[in-house]
Amino acid sequence: MFMAPKGDNVLVSSIKLEKIFSMKGGKGESSYANNSKAQAIHARSMLHLLKETLDRVQLSSPEVPFVVADLGCSSGSNTINTVDVIIKHIAKRYEALGYNPPEFSAFFSDLPSNDFNTLFQLFPPLANHGGSMEETLAADSHRSYFAAGVPGSFYRRLFPSMSIDLFHSAFSLHWLSQVPESVLDKRSAAYNKGRVFIHGANESTANAYKKQFQTDLASFLRSRAKELKKGGSMFLA
Ligand SMILES: C[S@@+](CC[C@H](N)C(=O)[O-])C[C@H]1O[C@@H](n2cnc3c(N)ncnc32)[C@H](O)[C@@H]1O
Repeated sequence: MFMAPKGDNVLVSSIKLEKIFSMKGGKGESSYANNSKAQAIHARSMLHLLKETLDRVQLSSPEVPFVVADLGCSSGSNTINTVDVIIKHIAKRYEALGYNPPEFSAFFSDLPSNDFNTLFQLFPPLANHGGSMEETLAADSHRSYFAAGVPGSFYRRLFPSMSIDLFHSAFSLHWLSQVPESVLDKRSAAYNKGRVFIHGANESTANAYKKQFQTDLASFLRSRAKELKKGGSMFLA
């Protein structure tokens, strides 16, 4: 969606939102990487809930890699910190059962317009996999997992069937896949006069957004249901 100011209103073209939508990339003053402390603080305050979810994930044999995916990862360090917490917690669970932790794999997923280059540059180096997994996990300045970026919308399939142990997604699912069509239709009761906010809008407009959210969330859940391994889990904020 492209929005250009025109008087009090904005013009909304039909360019697909997901083709151009992204947080501000790079590491500059106004970048997401430098303006995501609020999300970091909220993420920290939810850690106990995340750990409760992690405690319920069914663990497979340590021979099988444990696979995490963060959806709507953006281009700051929040996603890296969260994946680190997840992997350390799961590793501890294996150790508590008397096993060496498995190898870990993490997928960082966002829309293709996301600045994956900046994100990849923020990754600490991969720990020496010649060493034991315990040594790898103990090395704080190193990454104890294989990482890959996955471009695509989380409202569609992103991964093969039954391939992910844990999905995480924070502060992203409120972004809808599109502006509801009725909101852009001058003949509709939900028409929002070109505005990009619903403050003061009528109930039909609010209902159109609500319906879009329900449709989008259902698409999200249908895709994840296919991709999640048996016994896997999801943490959504
Ligand atoms: C506010 S950022 C959250 C980033 C990160 N999770 C954090 O906690 O800092 C929201 C992210 O959701 C992504 N996003 C929005 N709609 C998406 C979609 N349909 N599929 C995948 N990512 C999407 C945006 O590109 C953006 O990077």
